[in-house]
Amino acid sequence: MANPDKFKKVIAHAKEYGFVFQSSEIYDGLSAVYDYGQNGSELKENIKKYWKDSMVMMHENIVGIDSAIFMHPTVWKASGHVGAFNDPLIDNKNSKKRYRADVLIEEHVEKINIKINKDVEKARKKFGDDFDEDQFRSTNGRIIERQKNIDEILSRFKTAFEKDDLPDIKQIIIDNGIACPVSGSKNWTDVRQFNLMFDTKLGSVSEDADLIYLRPETAQGIFVNYLNVQKTGRMKLPFGIAQIGKAFRNEIVARQFIFRMREFEQMEMQFFIRPGEEDKWFEYWRDARMKWHKALGMGDENYRFHDHENMAHYAKAATDIEFNFPFGFKELEGIHSRTDFDLSQHQKFSGKKLQYFDPETNESYVPYVIETSIGLDRMFLTVLSNSFEEEEINKENGKTEIRTVLRIPEVLAPVKAAILPLVKKDGLPEKARKILEQLKYDFNCQYEEKDSIGKRYRRHDAIGTPFCITVDHQTLEDNTVTLRYRDTMEQERIKIDELNSIIDEKVNFKKLFKELN
Ligand code: GAP
Repeated sequence: MANPDKFKKVIAHAKEYGFVFQSSEIYDGLSAVYDYGQNGSELKENIKKYWKDSMVMMHENIVGIDSAIFMHPTVWKASGHVGAFNDPLIDNKNSKKRYRADVLIEEHVEKINIKINKDVEKARKKFGDDFDEDQFRSTNGRIIERQKNIDEILSRFKTAFEKDDLPDIKQIIIDNGIACPVSGSKNWTDVRQFNLMFDTKLGSVSEDADLIYLRPETAQGIFVNYLNVQKTGRMKLPFGIAQIGKAFRNEIVARQFIFRMREFEQMEMQFFIRPGEEDKWFEYWRDARMKWHKALGMGDENYRFHDHENMAHYAKAATDIEFNFPFGFKELEGIHSRTDFDLSQHQKFSGKKLQYFDPETNESYVPYVIETSIGLDRMFLTVLSNSFEEEEINKENGKTEIRTVLRIPEVLAPVKAAILPLVKKDGLPEKARKILEQLKYDFNCQYEEKDSIGKRYRRHDAIGTPFCITVDHQTLEDNTVTLRYRDTMEQERIKIDELNSIIDEKVNFKKLFKELN
């Protein structure tokens, strides 16, 4: 269920606690571009590590690369992005606002869906325990009519989209009375295709300079290096190449905070296989990726698959892993069966052979590819929005208080432990700094002595620090500290010598990786 209030709070919290800032904020910001702050960049690094190590360290046959953002312009002709990486856009003549035509239609369908769900909820309240939702949906006249309307719109849109029939896409908008969300007017321009790639010039004299693109996906950097890696790494099929890097898309409707950005990061892995084995490996990666997500413990019910009917220009089969964001279930990761499309295209456009000699079959062929592609920023948003909680505490003694806590999976938490001397005197700061020295080589820790201990606990709850270590007068006598757990707020007396192993047990990726193996 969408929760817009929670989403607003998450966005405000992300800024207040140094996770995400609007880019160039002092100049009023740049639309759909964001910067990551001191805590955000740590969280991002930890997500990258979880992904990259799970790919490269946990698989003997997957290696990592780091290719350039700028590539030869022909790459994007070969990949199909120059011709087909388009969104259908439409302008409203009154408000002068620009929209993606498919998004306007999707949102219209969603509104009808919301009406259906409202009717279902009303009936559920009315009939109580006796309510049979399936029966109600299949017999209630109004719901049947609305569902029929949705099916007709979607099927008409699918046909128009596949045939690139832009006039009919416009006609769907007109026929369904879809109005501009800003002006309420139905005065629309024709639908046009809009290429999402940013371009720039390479070279110092602008007339002679080459037009090049900022890559819209990292995948092509892997494809053009396929042979380099295969030969220098002596890789045998099946094998994978993984990469994390920036991608750029001139999204028409960039929105929902860091969900849809113009500059973002992708974590992509291309898995090269024998032709004919694509269905087996597609299933394998579909399951492996879902397991990777669920291992973080953010609630199995928050994930679902969405198999694609409208495929991207390169895909034979495609499925999304969707996550239950505060604005509903939306795509988090894509798994695509890309056949030999990309390598064959690069072979054709470059004139260089991109084949694999298979010693088992004595044949040369262009490998097929299964791709897993996840947006790092979207993954960041899943972690941030899922872990944000406002809970009531101290109810029992009548002093109810709201505690804001980020229950970030411990392995991903930006700061693993806070070291807090109870008071700023009596040798406690010095003792606390010694503990910092003991821990800092293994974990990202913070030392804090300002404000009351309660305030310091709250600050660390708000950034998701799983452990707070308090140094008090007893510490000086017996070398023990109190260890406070973020999620339960329980405190335990622990020997200083045991701290490293207790923290490590929770924040080390090892346990997760063993579960995945
Ligand atoms: N190489 C395949 C590819 O790029 P995609 O479905 O277009 O496929 C893959 O993108 C993932 O990249 C998405 O599932 C999403 O997580 C992320 N992504 C795509 N566009 C994005 C954007 N504008 N902002 C943030 N993340 C985006």
